[in-house]
Amino acid sequence: MDFKKVDEIIARHRGKAEEKIPPLIPILQDIQDEYGWLPEQAFVKTSRQLDIPLVNLYGVATFYNEFRLKPIGNYHISVCMGTACHVQGAPRILSELERKLEIADGEITPDEKYSLETSSCFGCCAIAPAIMVNGEYHGKMDKKKVDELLENIEQEKEDEKVKQNG
Ligand code: FES
Repeated sequence: MDFKKVDEIIARHRGKAEEKIPPLIPILQDIQDEYGWLPEQAFVKTSRQLDIPLVNLYGVATFYNEFRLKPIGNYHISVCMGTACHVQGAPRILSELERKLEIADGEITPDEKYSLETSSCFGCCAIAPAIMVNGEYHGKMDKKKVDELLENIEQEKEDEKVKQNG
């Protein structure tokens, strides 16, 4: 993995920071946007460049739910476990995804195609129970819709392969 982008991100924030120390949270957010998660090497670089102890950086990253300390798959699926989704069947949706993908909450498939996590309220309770795939909402989910969604993803991947092979 190439970590030059971490230097660029820190330099960019240094450039616009009025304070002496660039803002840590936006830096971590940008690193996560770049890599999809926060790799250890990115922490080491950030720690050295900002002269902040590694333990403090991990402290910040583990305090906020939005930060991921593990890699995510090509298709990252979040299941909302907020109250509205929970009462509308989110635990069943999660079980179905865990069964189909053969991974548990917080895990990634061995081929790194899929990762699964649970989340607090997405803010779209009207379509509960909701899930998100790579940032796109899917609402009123049930087992059948989970199956269809995964089939569509697999079909998309097949279509891409055919396109690539000409
Ligand atoms: S509780 Fe799931 S979107 Fe609000």
